[in-house]
Amino acid sequence: MNSTLVLQYLLTYSGLILLLVLSGIYLYFQFSFTYWKRKGFSYIKPKFPLGNNNCIGLGAFSYGIETLDWYRQLKERGLKFGGAWNWANPVLVISDPEYVKDILVKDFSYFTDRDFFHNPIDDPKNENLFVVEKDEWRYMRQHLSHTFTSAKMKMMCPGVLKCTEPLLDYMNQCAACGKDIDAKDIMSAYTIDVIGSNIFGLELGTFKAEDSKFREIGREIFRISVMKGVKTIMTRVSEGLARTMGISILPGDITDAFSEIVKDTIDYRINNNIKRQDFMQMVIDLYMETKNSERQFTLNHLIANVIVFFIAGFDTSATTLHFALYELALHQNLQDKAREEIDRILKKYNGDLTYEAVQEMTYIRQILDETLRLYPPLNVVARVAVKPYKLKNTDLWLEKGSRVVIPVIGFQKDPEYFPEPERFDPERFSAENKSIIPSYVYLPFGEGPRICIGMRFGRMQSAIGLIQILKNFKITLSPLTQTPIKPKRGVFIMLPDDRIYIKAEKI
Ligand code: HEM
Repeated sequence: MNSTLVLQYLLTYSGLILLLVLSGIYLYFQFSFTYWKRKGFSYIKPKFPLGNNNCIGLGAFSYGIETLDWYRQLKERGLKFGGAWNWANPVLVISDPEYVKDILVKDFSYFTDRDFFHNPIDDPKNENLFVVEKDEWRYMRQHLSHTFTSAKMKMMCPGVLKCTEPLLDYMNQCAACGKDIDAKDIMSAYTIDVIGSNIFGLELGTFKAEDSKFREIGREIFRISVMKGVKTIMTRVSEGLARTMGISILPGDITDAFSEIVKDTIDYRINNNIKRQDFMQMVIDLYMETKNSERQFTLNHLIANVIVFFIAGFDTSATTLHFALYELALHQNLQDKAREEIDRILKKYNGDLTYEAVQEMTYIRQILDETLRLYPPLNVVARVAVKPYKLKNTDLWLEKGSRVVIPVIGFQKDPEYFPEPERFDPERFSAENKSIIPSYVYLPFGEGPRICIGMRFGRMQSAIGLIQILKNFKITLSPLTQTPIKPKRGVFIMLPDDRIYIKAEKI
């Protein structure tokens, strides 16, 4: 049969073909929706075609706040876990801390992988610690874990503090003319500067350069677009097909821009025999040390992890800080209490904000802990079963490849563990109250061997930013901010629907 004839047939029967394809898709979804019943699990009833997602969620799927609804539905029915669907993809949702412990810690060997699309063949420069699996992850984590020890934090502390200078300069200018300040924008510029100088070893000057390359990359990564949404849908419908189509985690130009920066930095340091006390140096050393060994920390590993430390490092802390400023602007009494602690401890350290002084500011830590409870930047922690797994005290088995969702936001807003959960109350994390919070219900950094590697760094850069702001300014809410804020749906990280604007008054 020649091609003209085939085309003629296709045109004649195109309506029929379309009907068959749509019917096929519909039947496939309906069959998928029987998955948890067939396995003997309780489940939340799905709807065609979104499953249990309640928005198209082009940016994310289950990684949104809809997992809070799932958690509540399971709890209401007295269930410790239950099935749900992201579109046609079944996921097991956990609603009991004992099972969280099993999955993240006790039986970690069954759940070593995170449920996150990656494409090792076409996108090797994004094979980073966040996405790699099994043995590859173990190797990488082992080599990178020493980059964030307390000793390293202490060493990096002065560098982080220096990055608050442009932030304070900018806020001074705004205070002088009463300008409204976009809280997320300034906190992102600050954390980009911090990551830039402590990871890349570059003075980025993000505040002065509105069009700075890093600021633009930062904005681009989290910008929602139809193209990105379509890509996400592809990866969710079929990871294999998405890989065959060469879909990558980040747009190629962003990966290329980072590769260039990394290669230039390595060349500059090696050619000029320059060694700095930063993260980049640690990974360059690792790359050089393992160059001739059987198992290498390759240049691609190096680039991939620099990229992920930039992405994971700046936005999570900026998000936390901007929500903290919002809550403190609403609660002047808490702001005063924080300022009183800052003044008292700084006096003890002769006005120097040293690493030790930051550690002693326990109320600042409480404010950040409570902010991370109410607004966890990552709403869920996800794992994949790498081998069949029997759930404790049941006859139920998870198949190899099953996806598990731990709704961090569900646990952290559960009145059983956090009474009056919508109330911002840093006292929950005071020394005496903290001990009554059950284990595995407070998970802003995840838990177990795959817990956030940058937790100490994230806490430190957030604390230093907040201390410097409160020491110098009284923060109030701008009338431009819509209250109460509502969380944005369908995005990967926790964001408010509208932007948060504040006003700063020099103290
Ligand atoms: C407030 C700040 C931060 C928050 C709330 C946060 C949150 C998280 C969460 C929830 C996870 C998943 C943990 C799990 O699956 O159990 C994670 C993983 C990770 N985070 Fe963070 N993070 C923060 C800061 C940082 C910083 C500053 C860096 C790096 C500079 C970083 C790098 C990473 C990496 C590389 C992983 C993957 C770890 C692995 O799979 O072994 N994060 N983070």
